[in-house]
This record gives sequence, structure tokens and C-alpha cells, in this order.
Amino acid sequence: MKSSTVFLGVGVLAVIGAVVGFLPDAELDHGKEVYSMQKCALCHSVAGIGGNKSPLDGVGSKLKSEEIKKWIRTPKAMKADSTMKAYPNLPERDLDDLTAYLMTLK
Ligand code: HEC
Repeated sequence: MKSSTVFLGVGVLAVIGAVVGFLPDAELDHGKEVYSMQKCALCHSVAGIGGNKSPLDGVGSKLKSEEIKKWIRTPKAMKADSTMKAYPNLPERDLDDLTAYLMTLK
């Protein structure tokens, strides 16, 4: 009886988690997480917080999402003498969510 209640509880949480995972907010939260885990802020600032090499404020109006992805994967393909670190092995989902987050910086 008690363990089945626990099972039910875990099941319900798993379903909620799965549903929330498809909502855009979760995507953006994950994108922000990727941004901090990958230490983009060592060089980039958003709203004045972070490195001073290149602010990303407004990048969502300036660039298309394909361009942002290309910057992250292969910066030298965007600018031959780019000093940005490349992230060729970032998982596709991390790249998508990170890009979705950057696209909100209008
Ligand atoms: C070692 C420093 C460094 C790191 C780390 C870094 N960048 Fe950059 N990034 C740059 C610099 C510098 C530029 C400006 C272009 C150039 O000269 O390379 C740039 C350019 C960009 C651009 C194009 C901006 C524009 O206005 O056109 C985007 C988008 C970008 N970076 C995203 C990211 C993201 C997302 C991360 C983390 C996954 C990241 N960068 C990590 C240094 C860095």
C-alpha cells in the first residue's frame, strides 16, 4: 500500500516533468543553464553581467538563429580571425535551447 503510493507519486512527477519539458519556458531555462555551464559569460555580457569582449544584448534582433548556431559551432566560419572558443561537440539539444535563449535578447 505504502510503496504503491510512492510509485504513483513518482509516476505523476515523471509525467509532469515530461509535459513541462515541452513548454517553451523550460527550453529557455535550459538554454540559460547551458550558457552558464559553457561559461559563455567569461567573454560575453548580457545586461552588463559577464566578460567585456562582446556583449550579446540585442543579438536576437541582429542575427538569425542559424547564424547564432554557426557562431557557437564554428566561430571561424563567421569571422576568419575570431578569437571565440568553438563548441563543435555541444549536444544538439543544448545548442537549440541555448540559441532559443539568445534569440530572446532583443
Ligand atoms: C574565449 C572567449 C569567448 C567565449 C568563451 C565565447 N565567446 Fe562568443 N564571441 C567571442 C568574441 C571575441 C566574439 C566577437 C567575434 C570575434 O572577434 O571573435 C564572439 C561572438 C559571438 C557571437 C556573435 C555576436 C555578434 O554580435 O555578432 C555569438 C552569438 C556568440 N559569440 C555566442 C557565444 C556563446 C553562446 C558562447 C558560449 C557557448 C560563447 N559565445 C563563448 C568570444 C567568446
